Amino acid sequence: MKETELPAEQPRKLLAVILRLERLAQRSPVFRRLYTFLFYRRILEIEITEAQLPVGARVLHVGCGPFPVSALALADKGFTVTAIDRDPETVRTAAQSFGGRGITFVCADAQGFDYSGFEAVFVALHVAPRREVLQAIVASADQGTQVLVRNARGALKKEYTSIRVEDCKQDMESITHRLPGQKELLVLRRPSLTSLAAANGSCAVCSLCDLSAHQGGTISAVPDLPQLAAMGFRPGKDCTIVAVQPWGGPVICAVAGREIALERGVAATVHLEADSVKPLPSHTRARVV
Ligand SMILES: C[S@@+](CC[C@H](N)C(=O)[O-])C[C@H]1O[C@@H](n2cnc3c(N)ncnc32)[C@H](O)[C@@H]1O
Repeated sequence: MKETELPAEQPRKLLAVILRLERLAQRSPVFRRLYTFLFYRRILEIEITEAQLPVGARVLHVGCGPFPVSALALADKGFTVTAIDRDPETVRTAAQSFGGRGITFVCADAQGFDYSGFEAVFVALHVAPRREVLQAIVASADQGTQVLVRNARGALKKEYTSIRVEDCKQDMESITHRLPGQKELLVLRRPSLTSLAAANGSCAVCSLCDLSAHQGGTISAVPDLPQLAAMGFRPGKDCTIVAVQPWGGPVICAVAGREIALERGVAATVHLEADSVKPLPSHTRARVV
């Protein structure tokens, strides 16, 4: 990408320097290790720890750049990683250099991407336009998806638009962590259904589509379909989400000792007692650590 094509929201000179360093890291394993050690080691540790991801979780790195340092660290931990960038040449060279590491590279603009099917979305500091990208993420991400956004801190703050929980324009919980190098991490999650029900003083009902992998509960209602009953989807039975396939794919559920793939449309018709749903680890609203 030429410097003149960079969005006004990004500090052009700084980004041009970073892209040059990342291209060097792409080519040189020695420089790559040094660059990661000096600038990213602690940041990645904090980000991955804070995400509290289940084993094998599907995660997305947005704005991966020529040296997709977050995607590489996540792949090394055994997560299933997709990395996107809107620059075709960046994606081509990153895939060529790091494609054998279990990362799927996709050339896409973050504003028009489908974020369903990921347990966590990691957003690089240079992704722009920042508020619009965040709103696109929360609009299509699954109920339990965590969004981890790198923000600027201190002197760097005047260079980048800071993302706040209010920018989501949806009810979200947030937590902020200080990161080294004048950066901070904003972790965003939708309030769990159980905490929403508690806040409303009500016993709400939710569908299988409202849950994330590893959440489950007691079935309260199913449509009158013999196939569903035969597979074990009956009121009173416990059901746990094994995985939610990306791109609007099926919801894999464990019920009555079997794993069954349900089309999203069907999963939306199977209801659970919200009281019985296991919450994801809770976050305190706007807590700063
Ligand atoms: C400095 S680079 C890479 C960041 C770095 N490797 C990391 O892990 O944080 C930022 C990248 O974000 C990409 N980018 C910026 N806005 C984007 C958007 N809206 N959609 C997709 N990629 C975007 C740019 O093309 C650039 O390659």
